[in-house]
Amino acid sequence: MKVLVIGSGGREHALVWKIAQSSLVTRLFAAPGNPGTAELAENVPLAVDDLQGLLEFAVTQGIDLTVVGPELPLSLGLTDLFEEQGLKVFGARKNAAIIEGSKAFSKDHMKKYQVPTAAYEVFTEVASAVEFIERLGAPIVIKADGLAAGKGVIIAQSRDEAVAAVTDMLSGNAFGAAGSRVVIEEFLKGEEASFLAFTDGRNIIPLATAQDHKTIFDGDLGPNTGGMGAYSPAPVVTPAIHEKAMTEVMQRTIDGMAAEGRTYRGVLYAGLMIDGDSVKTLEFNARFGDPECQPLLMRLKSDIVPLLMAVALGDISGIQLQWHDEATVCVVMAAAGYPGDVIKGDVITGLDQAAKIPNLVVFHAGTAIKEGACVTNGGRVLGVTARGATVKDAIDRAYQGVNQITWPGVQFRKDIGHKALNR
Ligand code: AMP
Ligand code: GLY
Repeated sequence: MKVLVIGSGGREHALVWKIAQSSLVTRLFAAPGNPGTAELAENVPLAVDDLQGLLEFAVTQGIDLTVVGPELPLSLGLTDLFEEQGLKVFGARKNAAIIEGSKAFSKDHMKKYQVPTAAYEVFTEVASAVEFIERLGAPIVIKADGLAAGKGVIIAQSRDEAVAAVTDMLSGNAFGAAGSRVVIEEFLKGEEASFLAFTDGRNIIPLATAQDHKTIFDGDLGPNTGGMGAYSPAPVVTPAIHEKAMTEVMQRTIDGMAAEGRTYRGVLYAGLMIDGDSVKTLEFNARFGDPECQPLLMRLKSDIVPLLMAVALGDISGIQLQWHDEATVCVVMAAAGYPGDVIKGDVITGLDQAAKIPNLVVFHAGTAIKEGACVTNGGRVLGVTARGATVKDAIDRAYQGVNQITWPGVQFRKDIGHKALNR
């Protein structure tokens, strides 16, 4: 079987790493991939939004299965385009990916199908938005409607900060068209978890539990990022919470999408806020989380290819997934300046030493090869991911790897997984 993975982040390196282990795969491509995927697959220099180029490549090569990593090609309709040509794709269709592409759609869908979420309203005018802000009071959460690379959410601590954020978004200054509609919602407290499930539109197979670390600094301080580290399992997702997440969040959402004529096939990611026995949905993503994908795939014991193909064919009823009992932890190493403008081109040292540590994989994200050396080439550069008997063991092993690797201005959190230890 010939498989094509689309994307170039740590998530896609993890997908390539896992797919490459399948005996069903004869040839594996990554578009555009990164220096990490290049060691396991053939990189193809096509951008994730070059739908025509990707289609031509898939048709010419006779690709049997295309696996889409990031949200952008899903929102642009890659799955629909490929399926029209008879190609098999793992990834939500355009009319389903809207669950991530529009926060207004996603919130309205949750309301309609009784999926627990924060109270909210959608606005296109500043005056009515300000009225709502004054009624709800701070802290309050302002979200750009469209895709904003994880940066379109402002937690405003005061009325004035909220009004400034709304004005900025609605005027088109911040996030362009993505901010021409805003969702304003109630601030929720609690502990977050990432709940992911595979679905064919009817049947749902949950992945193992996971938790991300959104902010740049230890102790959940500083601005939000795409994610600075993740681990699995996440003890905050108790069996009772798991049951609620499956019935009240996943089942209702996926049934609702089917009822709307937007059958959801792929992986659905719910960002949950857990407070005692209450579970509320912060957002949906139409893809694997990054970095959650890295520790999750390292814990997955089963061959992933039959599952990905079953989702693409629209029937996962015959699939069962086995998971390692051990825990996994991924620590993200980011470039200086992240999550703002970053410095690129710094030489990364210590990759060979880290690679010698057993049960540890260094997933590449923003890296490049320059004059034979591996250099930084993006915000999140590496995801050092390790398995251990317990979360504590996996943390220790991951940081053993992190401590081998460095470059000027490297940033990483030192407290990845600590919430699990505190429970
Ligand atoms: P989102 O992209 O909607 O998940 O928002 C990004 C991050 O903002 C989330 O992971 C939370 O940390 C935070 N956030 C979003 N919505 C809320 C809310 N209603 N209350 C508290 N924090 C939130
Ligand atoms: N790690 C959060 C996300 O992938 O959206």
